[in-house]
Parts: sequence; structure tokens; C-alpha cells
Amino acid sequence: MSTIIVNAGRSAGTINRNIYGHFAEHLGRCIYGGIYVGEDSDIPNENGMRRDVVDALRKLHIPVLRWPGGCFADTYHWQDGIGPKAGRKTIVNTNWGGVTEDNSFGTHEFMALCRQLGCDAYISGNVGSGTVQELSDWIEYCNMGGISPMANLRRANGQEEPWFVRFWGIGNEAWGCGGNMRPEFYADLCRQYATYMRDYHPDHRIFRIASGASNDDYRWTKIVAEQAGHTIDALSMHYYTVPTGIWNKKGAATVFDREEYYKTIKSTLFMDELVENHGRVMRRAKPDKKLGLVVDEWGTWLDVEEGTNPGFLYQQNAMRDAIVAAVNLNIFNNHCDTVVMANIAQTVNVLQAMVLTEGDRMLCTPTYHVFEMYKGHQDAQQLECYAQATLVGEGENTVPNLHASASRNENGEILLTVANIDMDKPCPIDVILAEASASSVTARVLCGDPHDHNTFDAPETVKPAAFDVQLKDGRLTATLPACSVAAITIKP
Ligand code: AHR
Repeated sequence: MSTIIVNAGRSAGTINRNIYGHFAEHLGRCIYGGIYVGEDSDIPNENGMRRDVVDALRKLHIPVLRWPGGCFADTYHWQDGIGPKAGRKTIVNTNWGGVTEDNSFGTHEFMALCRQLGCDAYISGNVGSGTVQELSDWIEYCNMGGISPMANLRRANGQEEPWFVRFWGIGNEAWGCGGNMRPEFYADLCRQYATYMRDYHPDHRIFRIASGASNDDYRWTKIVAEQAGHTIDALSMHYYTVPTGIWNKKGAATVFDREEYYKTIKSTLFMDELVENHGRVMRRAKPDKKLGLVVDEWGTWLDVEEGTNPGFLYQQNAMRDAIVAAVNLNIFNNHCDTVVMANIAQTVNVLQAMVLTEGDRMLCTPTYHVFEMYKGHQDAQQLECYAQATLVGEGENTVPNLHASASRNENGEILLTVANIDMDKPCPIDVILAEASASSVTARVLCGDPHDHNTFDAPETVKPAAFDVQLKDGRLTATLPACSVAAITIKP
């Protein structure tokens, strides 16, 4: 029996709902085909957005969506994607497969998508190949309410009211596809761009997010925070879980052995150290200002499915991915004093996706179900949570068998989310609540073999089921199945 203690008397703060954010890039079939099919498509749609996909995503209560990239952002010129569609420029997506795109999905379509999903927009500006003027104009186009050249242009394109987009990224991966810059050079550029990123309304101040580090590049974080920290609100950080750790042979989504399973979990647990260290570096580098950490790309990056375009990053998604999602979300919850936003890569058909599509068919992945089961953490108060774990694993890849986080919402309900990482053994748990009481409990569990996944012919192989939790004398007991994620809601 493993004990889990939820201490309602101690909290790291409020879990920013934006930790449950998403990312949709012009990459492969994420936007085109996956989300946007155009108004003339035979696939049922609203404003060109697939109804099936939007309906599924709405159930996740997505708080914020990052767009248009990724690497694509630093090649994107937003004025190519506005105005009558017939007149829009056809461009080549030089980062992802060299395919041409007709720019039929631009700023207005993205804002329509956010409205349909009920989420905030997070736009990544082009610093790598754009200009200060271009990004400044984009913000004016989106956020200026009065008379101005860009506000007038927006109105001429059919949008009377400003959208007041709050979240703006100052480039993406400036150390790589965003310009191969040194941190000192980027810090200067960031200051320059940030200067002309104007607030157009005192009640709608924008939130400036600098392009941050890759993995454990703490030097990048230190220099950008020290030299440009006064001009921004947050720094980003990207970290992907690559099962083998080898970029040209990352490992398949549904075929892997025990060693690779535990290696994947071990490498995903590294996120905890990264968040902790980047947070510490930011605080030391800029002690006079609280900068947030935005993990705006995370998730599994696996080999593409056989027969698919290598530039499209299309991968299946199994129970192993569900464990990865659960662990990362627990880490972000528990570091809610540092992480102000996170955006899993990517929403549809790319990397660790929520939904996959094939023609007019769609399925929800195991990762989708984890996001759905965890959505109650959004804007809730994080509670200290300790799970008494034992080590499991294979060879040098040993990891704790349990990983958990907890929060309390405004109604006083506690949500405890816990993953049993052990791929073979169930784990009996005994949950002790400190400084809280329980009158009733409901729970759901997602479980299966780590390789289990949903297909278009069997889309419900992995889905949540009711989970039996006993409540006696204020203590909860249950048995977590092997390789499972449970969400336990406790009423006061
Ligand atoms: O998410 C795929 C790519 O990964 C993004 O475009 C880029 O920012 C990162 O390298």
C-alpha cells in the first residue's frame, strides 16, 4: 500500500489555467485538413473549421491557443493572410515539408477559431525574418479600437471591434530556426521589438513573451532575463520527450520495449528539474521583477508513422503518451508559482496531438483524455501533495511508480490526479487528507497496456472509465491499475 498525503493547509498558489494551453502550427495537417477545411468542404464545418474537431476540443476547456508557429512563425508575414482569400499570396512552408499553402487560414480565421473554442489567442511574432514595424502593425491591427491605419484595415476586412489579443511571443526558438542568434544579440532585438509592442487600451495590457531556452540552456535564460527582463513579462522554454534520446531515431509511437518505456518516463521527468532551474535562474537574474516561465512547446516527439511525410510530424499516441501528459501536467501544477503557461505540441495531427483525423474521420487520443480528466485543475488552488513511491524500471532507467498533484477549486472540491507509472503492477493507495474533510468521492481512470492506442476503426480502445474509490473515516483507498492515470474528485 502506498500513501498519498494531500495537505490542504499548504499551497504553492493558483494553478494558472493557461498551463492547460495548446499549440497549433502551420505544420503538416494540423491547421490545414485537421482544423481548417474551408467553407466549401464536404466535411461539416463552421467558418471552415471542422465541427467534429472543434466540438471535441471544446470539451477540454482549452484556455489559450498558440499560433502560427513554431518555426513557421519566423517565416510568416501576417499581411499575406488577410483580405479576400482569392487575393492572398500562395507561400511555401520551408520548414515543414516544402508544401505550398494558400494562406486561407490567417489572422481572422485564427481569431474565429479561438472564439469557437472559447479560448484566448497567443500569437507568435516574426522576429527571425520579419521587421519591428511588421509586428508592431500586427498588434495595432488586432488591438487598436480607434481610428488608425491598421484598425481601419481590419475594419475594411470585416472586423469592426478589436480582438484585444493579450499574449504575444517575440519570435520562436531564436537560438535555432528563429534566426540562429546568440542570447546577447537576441536580448537586444527583444528589447527593440518589445518597445514597439504597444498597449492600445489601459484595461487590455499585452503580455510579452520572449523566445526562451531549449532544454537546459540556462545561459540563454540568464542572459535574456538579465538584459531584456525589464521589457517582457515571461520567458519561454521548450523541452520535448524523445524516447531514445536520439533525434534521427527517436522511437516509434506504438512499438517499444520495456526499457524504452521507462527511458521515456525518465526523460519526461527531467521537466521537473528544468522548470525548477529555469525558474531559479530567472529569479536570480531579475530579482526586481517576477518573470513567468512559459513552456510553450512540450510533449513526445516520436518517429513519424510509416508512409507519412517526414516533414509533417504525424505520430500515433498510446497509453505511454497519456502517462507522459499526466506527469508533465502534475509537474506544472506543482510549480504553479513559476509556470504561468504551457502549450502542448500540437493540437491536431502533429506530435503529441489531442485528436487525429483521416479524411472526414476523427479520433481522440489517450492524451486528449488526460487533458479532459485534468481540466478541473484550471484556476484552482494547488495543494501540497506527497506520494510515497517505490522505484520501478528497467536497467538504469528507474523512476518513481507514482506521480501526483492536487488542487482545490472555489467550491472546496479537491481534485487529486495520480499516475501509476508501473507498466506491470497495480498499486494500492491510501489517501490521507490533511486539513480537509471528505463527504463523498467520485473518480475516473484511464488505463491499458502502454502500447494501447485508438485507431479510426477502434476509436474507443482507450477511454476513461469509472474508478472505484472507498471512503471510510475520512481516508480514501483504491487500487490503481498498472499504467494508469486517475482523477479523483473529493467533495468537502
Ligand atoms: O513543434 C514542432 C517544432 O519544434 C516547432 O516548430 C519548433 O519551435 C520546435 O523546434
